[in-house]
Amino acid sequence: MKKIGVVTSGGDAPGMNAAIRAVVRLAYARGLQVIGFRHGWGGLISNDFLSLTPRSVSGIVQAGGTMLHTCRCPEIMMEEGLRKAAGHIAENKLDGLVVIGGDGSFRAASALSRYTGARMIGVPATIDNDVFGTDETIGFDTAVNTAVSDIDKIRDTATSLDRIFIVEVMGRKRGFIACMVGLSSGAEIILVPEVPFDHEALYRSIRENVAAGKKSGIIVAAEGIGDTGRLARDIEANTGVETRLSIIGYAQRGGNPSARSRYLAALFGEKAVELLARDDSNAVVGLRDGHIIRISLEEACRADKPLDLEALRLAGQLAR
Ligand code: F6P
Repeated sequence: MKKIGVVTSGGDAPGMNAAIRAVVRLAYARGLQVIGFRHGWGGLISNDFLSLTPRSVSGIVQAGGTMLHTCRCPEIMMEEGLRKAAGHIAENKLDGLVVIGGDGSFRAASALSRYTGARMIGVPATIDNDVFGTDETIGFDTAVNTAVSDIDKIRDTATSLDRIFIVEVMGRKRGFIACMVGLSSGAEIILVPEVPFDHEALYRSIRENVAAGKKSGIIVAAEGIGDTGRLARDIEANTGVETRLSIIGYAQRGGNPSARSRYLAALFGEKAVELLARDDSNAVVGLRDGHIIRISLEEACRADKPLDLEALRLAGQLAR
């Protein structure tokens, strides 16, 4: 193993830069050359890359986003895109490729592995925390903290005006962010795509809260539950409590990574380079029960990582 490539792909996540830095520096320490492809899989398809050295990754550990840029790139799942990407891996004489991203990025890496002999190693980085096999992904902790600190402020106005606020957090398909944010911010209700909810039961629980003296409240809803604007109007119409919607949105994807996201990036980066040095392939690094582990690429592509329903239950109990 002499030379590897690095690519960041899909939605950016705070801590991706810290992961690039860790991979580059630890690879160099083992005598490997590193190049980084710009704009995700698009850079591999068009052969747009830069050489990465320990010095070129200085001063990025605290920066959000990704110095390599990223993109959503459907071409990488098509025959022509895969052939071009594999061709550029061969042209650059890459022995391995580190893919920093989410499950979509790993599905692309898996497809690409059928066209190239280069070893594929994934590093889970997505705010959604929806990569199967790992308890946590790089960026999740930062996104949760961003949303919680916003909700702390929103609660001030909710209390002052006796209002309900639906706070919509990211999570198009999954409720990991909503669940952790709701629990940590003391939300009265948490709505996630994984658990269908009954509108009448929701109105009833709000009326009960009001009767018990809770005149304001926070409902944390994952974006994947549907039309939160309409839900706000329906709650107001059915409970008589003034209800507003606040969408936190893309702010959750940006900003300086938390210490935990950087820490995870360092540990994941170290494991990724170690796996490459051992000639391992088609693997993703992860965290399970406090240990850094190897997950098969195939497993990490699964879309059914279970949500912690116990955390939802606890949040419900604490909100009474
Ligand atoms: O990064 C994951 C995610 O934040 C999802 O929660 C969200 O639905 C999606 O990305 C939206 O991103 P984009 O607009 O870049 O497709």
